[in-house]
Formats: sequence, C-alpha cells, structure tokens
Amino acid sequence: MDAKTSAVAAGTLAVVGAAVGYVIARRKAKYESKALKLNSRNNKDNPVAEYIQSHLQPLHPAQEKLIKITDSVPRRRMLSDSLEMQLIHNVLMSMGAKKTIDVGVYTGFSALTVALAIPDDGKVVACDITMDYPKYGVPVWKEAGVDHKIDLRIAPAVESLQKMLDGGEEGTYDFMFIDADKSNYDNYYELGLKLLRPGGLMALDNMLWGGQVMDQSVNDKDTIALRAMNDKIAKDDRVNATHRVPHFGDMMSAKMKYTRRV
Ligand SMILES: C[S@@+](CC[C@H](N)C(=O)[O-])C[C@H]1O[C@@H](n2cnc3c(N)ncnc32)[C@H](O)[C@@H]1O
Repeated sequence: MDAKTSAVAAGTLAVVGAAVGYVIARRKAKYESKALKLNSRNNKDNPVAEYIQSHLQPLHPAQEKLIKITDSVPRRRMLSDSLEMQLIHNVLMSMGAKKTIDVGVYTGFSALTVALAIPDDGKVVACDITMDYPKYGVPVWKEAGVDHKIDLRIAPAVESLQKMLDGGEEGTYDFMFIDADKSNYDNYYELGLKLLRPGGLMALDNMLWGGQVMDQSVNDKDTIALRAMNDKIAKDDRVNATHRVPHFGDMMSAKMKYTRRV
C-alpha cells in the first residue's frame, strides 16, 4: 500500500493518515528528485543511463516489448530496472543457474529476464499475490518461448515458499530475486536462505529505498523493514561475498549463500 492509499484507507483516521501521507510523500520527493535524474527507468531523459545502456548488449526484443506494454499498466514505477536485470541475466548465465525463484512478478520483467538466462530445462518459480499485473507478461513469456520455464504461483509469497520447503526442496535453488512487499523481506530472506543451495545467490531489490534507509527520521513501515534488513544482513555470517550494486537512487543488494570461509 503506498502512502496515498494508506491515508485514504485510514478512514476515521483520515486527518492523521493524510498528514502521515503528506510527510512521507514529501520525503520521497526530496530523495527522488535527485535520484530521478540518474534513474535508468527514465533512460530517455538520463544521459548517464543512456550511455551505460548503449554500451551493453541490447535488451532481448521480448524485454523491450514488455517494457513498452508496462508503460500503460497501473503502478508502472514498480517495473524492475533494466540495467539491474541485465546484470542479473549475465550473472545467472555465468553461474549456469537452473532453478530460480522470483518473488514479486508485477508484469513479469524479472521472471522473463531470468527465464531467458537459464537453460531450456531450467525453471523460475514466479510468486505474486495477484494476477492483475502478471496477466500482461504471460503472453510475452509465451511469445519469447520461455513460458514453459516459468511456474507462476498466485498466493502470498511466504506461503508459496513454505510449500516449496514442505515439498522437500531445501537447498536446491541457485538464485532468488526478492522484489515484493517490503515488510515481508525478512521472511523471504529466511525462507530463501533455506531454499538456496550453498553458493546460491539472492538479490534483494530496493535496499536503499531512494536513500530513506539512511534517514532515521523516516519511519514508515517499508523504510523500517528495509533498514532492519540492511542491519541484519551486515552481521549475518550465513551469507558472504556481499555485493552492493548501486543503481542510481536505489540499490540492488546481492548475497551469495555462505559456502566456505576464505
Ligand atoms: C515491485 S513489483 C515487482 C516488480 C517485478 N519484479 C518486475 O520485474 O517488474 C512488486 C510485486 O509484488 C507483489 N506482491 C506484493 N505483496 C505480495 C505478497 N505478499 N506475496 C506475493 N507478491 C506480492 C505485487 O503484486 C507486485 O506485483
């Protein structure tokens, strides 16, 4: 739920809700106004992102198509960053990843990217709580010839991940991308660490949250959850080789599950 919606949903608390919403909205704007200038989601107005993108291999036509389709889908800002996706694509190819998990599908860009990187008998367990957004991606997955690799599960992701563990899949996954509701990141992280094999990779999106995690005066529930995750992961000796990959104005954080001390 975004700040605006929570203010509306507060009902009898509308005044308090509205005030909170306003404060949050203003704080977001403060960080985002700086960040947007360098945000690769806005490549057209962004010379740095354009430069980087023009020095990478082009996106797959299906990725381009899905980005275009998503332009007219509600909550378009939820779309994953294409430079991040290219990095994930290359890392997965280099790892030879086969079994993967995508938590938070939206219109299916991350699931598509992962599916394009894994072999024909690989799989992406793609978890979302609603079909409202994945329905836009499903035809594109088909057109790209990767739909057979994507196993879409519509349910709260915590339930889907727990079912995978109950089904005996502990320690069998190569990669997990976490990009859903922030207050469940810790649950996704813990379940994911169980599902990943030693040496498996977990990538958590939005770990800077537009810079808000660094500002102790910002205390909405998403910021608190992400700040707590950063603090927890920094001290967690179950993961190593922590890469923090800056993307402009936000950050993707990739963890490799602990294999051995070096
Ligand atoms: C930021 S979007 C994901 C973006 C996507 N990874 C992409 O590549 O564009 C977050 C998604 O998480 C989903 N979501 C929110 N809460 C969830 C939950 N409890 N379980 C599963 N999915 C959830 C939303 O429906 C939304 O589609």
